Amino acid sequence: MPNVAVIGAQWGDEGKGKVVDWLASRAEIVVRFQGGHNAGHTLVVGDQTYKLSLLPSGVVRGKLGIIGNGVVLDPTALLAEIGRVTAQGLHVGPDNLRIAENVPLILPVHPALDRAREAARGDRKIGTTGRGIGPAYEDKVARRAIRLCDLAEPASLGPKLDELLLHHNTLLQGLGADTFTKDALLAELLALAPRLLPFAEPVWQRLDAARAAGTRILFEGAQAVMLDVDHGTYPFVTSSNTVAATAASGSGIGPSAIGTVLGIAKAYTTRVGSGPFPTELTDATGALLGERGHEFGTVTGRRRRCGWFDAVMVRQAVKVGGIQGLALTKLDVLDGLPELKVCVGYARGGETLRHLPAAAGAQAEVTPVYETMEGWAGSTRGARSWADLPAQAVKYVRRIEELVEAPVLLLSTSPERDDTILMKDPFVA
Ligand code: IMP
Repeated sequence: MPNVAVIGAQWGDEGKGKVVDWLASRAEIVVRFQGGHNAGHTLVVGDQTYKLSLLPSGVVRGKLGIIGNGVVLDPTALLAEIGRVTAQGLHVGPDNLRIAENVPLILPVHPALDRAREAARGDRKIGTTGRGIGPAYEDKVARRAIRLCDLAEPASLGPKLDELLLHHNTLLQGLGADTFTKDALLAELLALAPRLLPFAEPVWQRLDAARAAGTRILFEGAQAVMLDVDHGTYPFVTSSNTVAATAASGSGIGPSAIGTVLGIAKAYTTRVGSGPFPTELTDATGALLGERGHEFGTVTGRRRRCGWFDAVMVRQAVKVGGIQGLALTKLDVLDGLPELKVCVGYARGGETLRHLPAAAGAQAEVTPVYETMEGWAGSTRGARSWADLPAQAVKYVRRIEELVEAPVLLLSTSPERDDTILMKDPFVA
């Protein structure tokens, strides 16, 4: 099977953009299958930096991009993103971007509710991106979403909006936020329809044909396993399943077509938003990692919390996410640190756990059990072969492989696309 699915193995922002871009150059089709414009990928290509949220990374490389049904699509955000990359000299049109006709839409009510609820939560807020992702997925499951294909049936939109607004305006009013009128939303959707419908199609047919022809498909995950609505640090998670299995249901292809599952992990750990983070460093080392790693969110600009590599968590992500190999990123951020710590267990109530418990209370209580390793004096930045790495850095990578029970297939040593060490080609099973 020539296909590859890429997912985050921590809490997101692992550097998927670069790895996906690198792999996209070797695929024909790149598919987004979950999440929405809460994701942020930075791609550095020559002297251009592209910041993508919704567009599959392959469009930068002239590949066909597909947005699958498992995504929640904000039409205004999509058109704005297309406008931005077009201004940077790229072409994005219905010839190189196809969108599942059954994708649910994010409407202005969704970010409004997202933000009103976060404000009402006060100190207990989840720290969402405020983009309406959660409310849009709720509407899909509650069977009141407006989907892309509905724009082709304008007469149906009025009654659909009535049902949607009955729910949302009641909640918004209760939260003391502004409500919405049907007329304004309807006018907006009708204006968007001719701009969006040319992209719509049953993408499952195209994917089926690609699979039959043996065309290489890259499935591009967003967020990460520890933000998965089932397997992550619930309730501090996003509202979709981020594990590799979703590549199938979120695009309309069978699970056997997913191919090799590559998990992306940073050589340390970061997280944005609230929630448990056992290996978090609130000291000078944490600040140093943040500074060196430029740990600011692509989408929100928020500072990311930083900590040591948590092998217990990544091992769990490997198991539940279906990860067969890892791409390890940002090893260079650890250059020159005299010693490094890796979390190999969690202490809780006199026990040492080898997994993150499911209950939020227990997750908040665990304390990391560390193994300490010697750091390395030399630089790993820009290394393009295993032989270029300091011996101690190689030891660190090998120890991670052992602890998380997955081989490192790719090592990324700088934001530049070519600063990558390939151990094994994920497209070759
Ligand atoms: P939401 O996806 O906007 O609902 O946010 C829920 C949680 O997921 C928050 O903690 C966000 O910070 C986090 N999150 C969502 N998207 C990303 C991402 O692309 N990278 C990292 N964290 C994310």
